[in-house]
Amino acid sequence: MTNIIKVNQLTKIFGNTKALDHCDLEVKKGEIFGYLGPSGAGKTTTIKLLTGQLHSDGGEITVLGKNPFSPEIRHQIGIMSDMSGLYEKMTVYENLDIFADIYGITDKKRKIEKALASVELLDAGKKKVEKLSRGMKQRLVFARTIIHSPKLLFLDEPTANLDPATADEIRALIRQLNDNGTTVFLTTHNMEEADELCHRIALLNKGKIVECGSPEELKLKYSRKKVVITSTDGTKEIPLDKSDIIRELEGTADLLMIHSEEPSLRDVFLTLTKEAYAS
Ligand SMILES: Nc1ncnc2c1ncn2[C@@H]1O[C@H](COP(=O)(O)OP(=O)(O)OP(=O)(O)O)[C@@H](O)[C@H]1O
Ligand SMILES: [Mg+2]
Repeated sequence: MTNIIKVNQLTKIFGNTKALDHCDLEVKKGEIFGYLGPSGAGKTTTIKLLTGQLHSDGGEITVLGKNPFSPEIRHQIGIMSDMSGLYEKMTVYENLDIFADIYGITDKKRKIEKALASVELLDAGKKKVEKLSRGMKQRLVFARTIIHSPKLLFLDEPTANLDPATADEIRALIRQLNDNGTTVFLTTHNMEEADELCHRIALLNKGKIVECGSPEELKLKYSRKKVVITSTDGTKEIPLDKSDIIRELEGTADLLMIHSEEPSLRDVFLTLTKEAYAS
């Protein structure tokens, strides 16, 4: 099975709001799939639909070859949304112990220690959660999310409100898990993060998927296709076209600099969301 997630014409309506409007998407085995969009675009709603926390108002969803409500799926997916749900008065170890029980994990001690080690919290096992820093709590939530070795991870803004160093740690963890075969569905508002981590991304705006592809494909697609040539005569912008460039260079005095202007993922995002707002 190459498609871990397949969504056809997914629609979700809340009162007068079409949170998702006939969305199609596919997530392939082994990829980190970025799901980007402005606040209110429908990202969290999609995750809830894909993980059987909400019913849709139309369309089909297949996750790991099954309907998201089938009980077999629960043990194969991990969901990380926010820090809520940690038991503050309990220790780090006890928090994971509860989850290990929920998942019916048999070799609990080994699994808990492995999860704690992977987020570098092994030494903090006896600490009460209320004594942890924000970054440590986020790492604990991450450990909780992966304790049952899920094949597919849903991460809803895993690095939001974290200091840069902790955010880097979380990104390294995501990459490490993905290197070991875990497929990741990730939402983020951080464009550099999406560019750095994701194999493919979908851009969602007002409940509609407006673009999908690898970060490179999207940047190329929305490139202004211009070249800026700076010579002793001054600076000129010309089309990114072989014969135009050659002609221009032949007539140029002393060349100082040539560069093409590639958009960042952030530029692509802003262009697309603006276009969608205008239409
Ligand atoms: N339970 C709900 N009841 C009513 N409306 C809802 C509910 N959940 C979400 N919505 C609406 O659906 C739309 C999409 O919300 P969603 O939370 O999926 O956005 P998001 O892309 O995750 O945004 P953010 O980036 O801020 O997390 C919004 O207009 C939101 O107000
Ligand atoms: Mg959200």
